[in-house]
Amino acid sequence: MRKFYLPFILFISVACWLSACQKDSEVKDEVPPTPVDTTKPFKATPYPLALPPGWPSMFIPADNPLTVEGVELGRKLFYDPILSQTNTMSCGTCHNIAFGFTDNGKQFSEGLKGEKGTRNSMPLFNLGWSEKYITTNHKFFWDGGAADLESQVLGPITNPIEMNETLANVVQKLQQHSVYPGLFKKAFGTDSVTTKRLIQAIAQFERTIISFGSRYDMYMVTKNRNLLTDQEWRGFELFNNDVADGGADCFHCHNLSSPFTSDFQFHHNGHQSADEGLKRITGNPEDIGKFRTPSLRNLLFTAPYMHDGRLKNLEEVVAFYNSGAIRVFPADELIRKNPAGLNLTPQKKADLVAFLKTLTDSTLLTKTHLMAP
Ligand code: HEC
Ligand code: HEC
Repeated sequence: MRKFYLPFILFISVACWLSACQKDSEVKDEVPPTPVDTTKPFKATPYPLALPPGWPSMFIPADNPLTVEGVELGRKLFYDPILSQTNTMSCGTCHNIAFGFTDNGKQFSEGLKGEKGTRNSMPLFNLGWSEKYITTNHKFFWDGGAADLESQVLGPITNPIEMNETLANVVQKLQQHSVYPGLFKKAFGTDSVTTKRLIQAIAQFERTIISFGSRYDMYMVTKNRNLLTDQEWRGFELFNNDVADGGADCFHCHNLSSPFTSDFQFHHNGHQSADEGLKRITGNPEDIGKFRTPSLRNLLFTAPYMHDGRLKNLEEVVAFYNSGAIRVFPADELIRKNPAGLNLTPQKKADLVAFLKTLTDSTLLTKTHLMAP
């Protein structure tokens, strides 16, 4: 590399110097170009992030503030198949807004060559809060395999069963593109396309995907109990009570006092699966089969459920927690403490499903600023 590089640079600089000389002697009377003002540092337009009422601030890294130009570039990149080897698959292929940013109801996504992975595509919204409240470095993916939103972007681009592209190729394709260098310049000050800028722009866009506006959200803001039906309130009580008190005990892990319906911890919820989960990342045998407690927001759009999409609908989810979960180690203590299951009647099961549906934010699906540009 170095052997090739040095003579190449010498050649280029000599060539430039020669042509510059020539130009100078030819066009003497031309107005000199406006000198670049180096006293003013480059500044893009700060992005006006609107947080839902009563919500805490989200995590935004100091070296990647949200800007109008950065978010717009990130949105274009998110939906552009140029990031894949064959220019046919974008992030949006497997994260479709119409399905709460999941993969079109599929259990497993198909990569470029048609191969399937072993994990169900994850919904993308309110990610800036996952980043804030997960206290370890295991933040994104079902098993916490990515430490932050920026580095997460590298995974799907280079994964052979996803977009199967090299970063060098992506950068080259974008640098040679008719539009992208100008957009990088608007967002970052110069038209140089780099991997760092690419992942920063996509992460900026992802942080603007905020889901709020479900009936349960509206209840939390207004405290108007009429926003939920009697059946939905019965489901709420089941959700929020221990089994010993006649409840279904969902609230310890899917915490309803925050808008994110997750404790942001990793648990083994009693599934039977060979997937090692968090242990794949930490190597700790105690982490076997643990996955991050997911948000329960927008379940109506994001079926099928669980890390491997094994459960087709919410009735199957409730049946699983009621009587299908394994209640011995390595399942979580919270699951093991009810060895006989939840003993829910058909009516109670229906009530619980009804409550889960109140966490649906249909406004997300209509937000044009989150759709393909
Ligand atoms: C082939 C389908 C596919 C493509 C293309 C794809 N993803 Fe994903 N995405 C998935 C799957 C499947 C998961 C869950 C993987 C896992 O946990 O192992 C996931 C997980 C994620 C997560 C983690 C969310 C969380 O809450 O932890 C983010 C963020 C994400 N993808 C963003 C992107 C971005 C950005 C791109 C484009 C650069 C992209 N994805 C391209 C299928 C895809
Ligand atoms: C011990 C903690 C824990 C308890 C208790 C618990 N969950 Fe979960 N829940 C999880 C974890 C962890 C996952 C992800 C598991 C996986 O992917 O295999 C999950 C997944 C889910 C999903 C799938 C979401 C998706 O996007 O795929 C639903 C729905 C769900 N839980 C509802 C409930 C309900 C309803 C209850 C109460 C009956 C409940 N959970 C009790 C931890 C828990």
